[in-house]
Amino acid sequence: MASTKQQRVVLVTGANKGIGFEVVKKLLKESSSSNDTVILLGCRDLKRGQDAINQLGSPSNVHLLQLDTSSASSIAHATDEIKQKWGGKLDVLINNAGIVAKDNTADAAREVFATNYYGIKIINEHLSPLIKENGRIVNVASEVGAWTLHDMSNNLQNKYKSSSLTTKQIDALVEEFVSGIESKRLDELGYNTKFPYLIYGVSKVALIALTQIEAREWSGAKNVLILSVCPGYCATDLNNHGPGARSAELGADSILYAANAPANELENGEFYQDGKKKPKSSACNMDLSKLPKKNDS
Ligand SMILES: NC(=O)c1ccc[n+]([C@@H]2O[C@H](COP(=O)([O-])OP(=O)(O)OC[C@H]3O[C@@H](n4cnc5c(N)ncnc54)[C@H](OP(=O)(O)O)[C@@H]3O)[C@@H](O)[C@H]2O)c1
Repeated sequence: MASTKQQRVVLVTGANKGIGFEVVKKLLKESSSSNDTVILLGCRDLKRGQDAINQLGSPSNVHLLQLDTSSASSIAHATDEIKQKWGGKLDVLINNAGIVAKDNTADAAREVFATNYYGIKIINEHLSPLIKENGRIVNVASEVGAWTLHDMSNNLQNKYKSSSLTTKQIDALVEEFVSGIESKRLDELGYNTKFPYLIYGVSKVALIALTQIEAREWSGAKNVLILSVCPGYCATDLNNHGPGARSAELGADSILYAANAPANELENGEFYQDGKKKPKSSACNMDLSKLPKKNDS
């Protein structure tokens, strides 16, 4: 089924479970008829994606799009598929797929950056030309990024916060961070090595900074808004359904606010949570010692 002009086409990455799956469920509820919204459920694994669609009752307007966000060739393939099957147009792109680090090694960091930062950067380079007039790109970041930035040395914070920061400079900061893990120079570089989710946090700092640059460079002619969003602390596999976490459904609401709110309520390039603009740097207000680690059973 090819899309028509009136249809809203929304892509959610990493949508087979967790918050992304709840976003798809809510988009389905929002669409008054199966014809007004086409939902592309992005998933790296076809079987897991198909299972998710079955769980939704196989609605006619939800389609599986195979997309491994850490793979440039998968991103190129998915872009071609959108062009061939969906008229090459998207109204909303929700970059939701994300991971935490398995351990504190440089290899684990490379894996995290491939999905949480570089993957989103490449997806947006491929798909921003397909975003329609007044469309949106929502990069799912985390408040952990704001806490991580807050804890850096002033010198390093100023680099990430610079209004003239470029994507090349973010890449260089990310590469320096990964080499700093290898050479055990993170303290010297200005990172707070006592922070338990440092790799994940830095990946989200980089994503929030990337969002600002993309907003500056791409919004122009098409009135596209590019925003970063924190879904809030939600019980999902990402945190082993940590204690005190809210539902993934509420996390989906936080993301969908950025996708659906009237443009005059939003500031391009900014960071939002639960419908409110949030500072990109803030002191941690959670007791992180109580959170389960990724490998806890
Ligand atoms: N949960 C929280 O408290 C929280 C708080 C702040 C921000 N976030 C952010 O919210 C987003 C969703 O997290 P979640 O809590 O829903 O986590 P989740 O339940 O672990 O779901 C993550 C989703 O991302 C997918 N994914 C991971 N790597 C991928 C890749 N390379 N290509 C394609 N898909 C990939 C996973 O697919 P598989 O099933 O194939 O692994 C899964 O569908 C993430 O960006 C996360 O950082 C979460």
